[in-house]
Amino acid sequence: MLRVSTQLGGIGWVVQPAFIDAALVTQLVQDMSRHELAGAFRDAAVGVGSTRSLHPTIRGDRICWLSMASSPSERHMLALFERLRVHLNESLMLGLHDLECHYAIYDEGKRYARHVDRSAQGAERVVSVVLYLNAEWVAGDGGELRMSTPAGEIVVEPRAGTLVSFLSDRFPHEVLVSQATRRSVTGWFRRRPTFPVS
Ligand code: OGA
Ligand code: MN
Repeated sequence: MLRVSTQLGGIGWVVQPAFIDAALVTQLVQDMSRHELAGAFRDAAVGVGSTRSLHPTIRGDRICWLSMASSPSERHMLALFERLRVHLNESLMLGLHDLECHYAIYDEGKRYARHVDRSAQGAERVVSVVLYLNAEWVAGDGGELRMSTPAGEIVVEPRAGTLVSFLSDRFPHEVLVSQATRRSVTGWFRRRPTFPVS
């Protein structure tokens, strides 16, 4: 855990290859399938407010918001994220208040073009986290996360169990075209919203 806060507080991003184990990955994929069968996934939109709309060539994933755990495995995953939130607050004084997160599925041929997670209107998103659930991923399946950093580009393979965390306002990033079904959980640790004082 110490490496996580040191690296996040230093260069602003960190990759943890085994944030969750294979058994939890399997259970979460089953949970996702259950939500999918229940019709809980929606095409993801881009933009905020009145400009929010669907642009499948820019962003092609389908998402299902995870507001509450609906299974022991989701509870377990959210507890791990909660532990990370408390750790980041204790070590970096980030004042993270909660986590908003969703499942995401990129079907074959889908991608998410280069963007930054935190818009001027959404200043409460502080740390982005992406947890990958692709047990069968092999090179050639695509769907890598490519992120621009001052030290150059980093590429993260979306392998099962890997967690990538980064400061939400810093790094332009994209999801390369996926050649296979790509599953993940994406979340944002948030600060309490602040309102301008007039
Ligand atoms: C996002 C995003 C990255 C990924 O959903 O905003 O950038 O690797 N996801 O899934
Ligand atoms: Mn993003």
